[in-house]
Amino acid sequence: MASTDHPTILIVGASRGLGHAMAEEFANRGWNVIGTARAGGRTELHELAEQNPNVRVETVDINADDQIAALRERLAGKRLDMLFVNAGTTTTDPLAQVGAVSAEEFTRVMLTNALGPLRVIEALQANVPADGLIGAMSSGQGSIADNVKGSREVYRASKAALNMLMKSFAAREADAPRAMALLAPGWIRTDLGGPDAPFTMKEAVPKLVDVLIEKRGRPGLEYLDRFGKTVPW
Ligand SMILES: NC(=O)c1ccc[n+]([C@@H]2O[C@H](COP(=O)([O-])OP(=O)(O)OC[C@H]3O[C@@H](n4cnc5c(N)ncnc54)[C@H](OP(=O)(O)O)[C@@H]3O)[C@@H](O)[C@H]2O)c1
Repeated sequence: MASTDHPTILIVGASRGLGHAMAEEFANRGWNVIGTARAGGRTELHELAEQNPNVRVETVDINADDQIAALRERLAGKRLDMLFVNAGTTTTDPLAQVGAVSAEEFTRVMLTNALGPLRVIEALQANVPADGLIGAMSSGQGSIADNVKGSREVYRASKAALNMLMKSFAAREADAPRAMALLAPGWIRTDLGGPDAPFTMKEAVPKLVDVLIEKRGRPGLEYLDRFGKTVPW
């Protein structure tokens, strides 16, 4: 049973990697966590939920509108103190130059990293109160200003698109903004980050959670790294 007097976070894309580690970190800090996995298999999130009564598993594929609508129905009336879309992907060959990437592959990455997160946020934003936070996992690679070296071209483009869509979303409530965050976690050792990434989840995730909790007190959209420092757009 979830604790009624503790805040609740919905983490979309919590089956493994950073999303799962964030779910565990929030749960360890006394939050009620609703994590999502895609339907089908048993994941690390299911294991976490078995060990921790404050963690609950939901299912959604962020590229499936019907599944987003069903999730909204299931969560109708549920207060979400934080709504955080962590789900993301990259091209099969992460280093492929854009001309070598098929239209299908380009579309898959753009849908997952840019359109999907905003579809989820639009569907569930009514669950987030005025003092809540809405966020998504971006990347330092989404910074146009910082892109001096290129590489990971389609991934960069998808995270820049995510950033722009969040800017537009935030602009809709310019008069009474809620707290919103785009996070750049750093290069972290996960399935997506790969084995050469310099930082572990253990190093990064508590800092990311600190940044979100602090940001909740500051209305408006910010693009922040794991130290709480602003990333140039
Ligand atoms: N690792 C890094 O160095 C790094 C750096 C910057 C930003 N990021 C961002 O951080 C986030 C998490 O990355 P990670 O490194 O933890 O990657 P990961 O280990 O590959 O995990 C990706 C997560 O996203 C979920 N996901 C992917 N497509 C989805 C979809 N269509 N619907 C629902 N869930 C979906 C996956 O679910 P399944 O298990 O079902 O596939 C999984 O839970 C991503 O947005 C990534 O771009 C990572």
